[in-house]
Amino acid sequence: MLPNARGATLEPQPQPGAGKAVGANDRIRFGIIGVGMEGSNVLASALSLPGAECVAAADLYDGRHTLAKEITGNPNLPTTRRYHDILDRKDIDCVLVAVPDFWHRQIVVDACEAGKDVYCEKPMSHTVAEGFDMVQAAEQHNRVVQVGAQRVSSVLCAKAREMVRGGAIGEVNMVELTLGRNSPTGAWEYPPPPDLSAANFDWDTWLKDTPKIPFNPDRFARWRCWRDYGTGVAGDLMVHLISAMLFTLDWNEPPRSALSLGGIYRWKDGRDMPDLQTVLFDYHGIPVYIRLGLSTETPETARYMGPKGVLDTTEFGIHYSPQAGIDTDPSYYDSSYPAKMRQEYVKEWHEEHDPPPGKEPLTEQTLYAGDDWDDLRPHIWTFFESVKTRRPNVENAVFGNHAAIACHMANLSYFQKRQVFWDSSTRTVKDSL
Ligand SMILES: NC(=O)c1ccc[n+]([C@@H]2O[C@H](COP(=O)([O-])OP(=O)(O)OC[C@H]3O[C@@H](n4cnc5c(N)ncnc54)[C@H](O)[C@@H]3O)[C@@H](O)[C@H]2O)c1
Repeated sequence: MLPNARGATLEPQPQPGAGKAVGANDRIRFGIIGVGMEGSNVLASALSLPGAECVAAADLYDGRHTLAKEITGNPNLPTTRRYHDILDRKDIDCVLVAVPDFWHRQIVVDACEAGKDVYCEKPMSHTVAEGFDMVQAAEQHNRVVQVGAQRVSSVLCAKAREMVRGGAIGEVNMVELTLGRNSPTGAWEYPPPPDLSAANFDWDTWLKDTPKIPFNPDRFARWRCWRDYGTGVAGDLMVHLISAMLFTLDWNEPPRSALSLGGIYRWKDGRDMPDLQTVLFDYHGIPVYIRLGLSTETPETARYMGPKGVLDTTEFGIHYSPQAGIDTDPSYYDSSYPAKMRQEYVKEWHEEHDPPPGKEPLTEQTLYAGDDWDDLRPHIWTFFESVKTRRPNVENAVFGNHAAIACHMANLSYFQKRQVFWDSSTRTVKDSL
């Protein structure tokens, strides 16, 4: 019997907080640290939620102080280059952090130590060791930490998870995650802000503990291209697919091993991170194949496969094709039979298997269309709810760390040109086990 996917719909939910007067206890006063490309989206999305108020913004570039004032509509919004100014304030419930990957650990640990809950952009960490520091800081200071791979809170992933749990595809035996872009912006060749200078931007602080180099606007805008600051296509793109996969499949663990191949094929602009990366992960024996490229545009898809069918999830929908897993014709192996034997086999097969005329089975496929799985609002809402209720959230530091470890393993394998393995006893990546 094939599972009836139509019977597994999620109940419609009212929009969070819609139509409700916001009481004092429902208010969230937050500060934002990093108001760049993503921080500006995070800020606008957070402000669109009921009861959310931004009370301060920190960024090393003054142009983004202006941007924060524009987004909040508050020309008097306190802004600073020093994020500690925000952490020192007693009247702030939490911080939203959208700085480049190499700054995540420091700010999350400092925020936890200062007693602030933290929404930190993905990928959670820049290295494996950093992720464990962040998990420890969250636990030690009893803070809500949520990582910003927003699909985990999307209705599409919730639906896909419900279908997998309901047996729609049977035991999952393979996952394919793919994404391709083909444009300079898609390949992170962003135009730096034209006025960026040493006068309005704290370059030395931005560099943190990376090698000291002269002021370079490209590094500021295109940091994803370099390993010193970012985590490449793995931390930028794959982490979304991995996070959604872990949630959809109810997995919450690092992969056992990773083997990655790729290179810099098209964007030879001085970057050291690959513009094409393929990865084969082993998740407790199940192969997860990943293809990420910046030179050919292909749709972003997460394909979950099992003996009972295929679940294809994309940004705006789910396509479910059930499979009966049975022969619908006599086996083509019969070509190896002599003619008389073949004819008898075929005749018997049809007698045994053919439905009565007019009763031929119809196959049913299911399509769900939904809100963009990259919509930030449900995810930030989930975080604010955790801050208010102290109830745990799904994409906490442990979950975020597991997703980030997969990215680090992919990159380590790529750079070391060999398969790498997760050693859970030492919580490190090894060349062999
Ligand atoms: N969830 C998503 O869909 C999504 C999308 C894009 C980016 N991101 C993530 O968001 C983060 C930021 O990416 P981005 O593209 O917005 O980068 P960006 O370079 O556009 O913006 C980062 C901002 O952080 C500021 N900054 C850096 N260090 C700082 C510090 N110590 N104190 C205060 N401000 C500091 C910079 O001045 C800059 O304005 C990254 O981790 C990225 O992976 C997530």
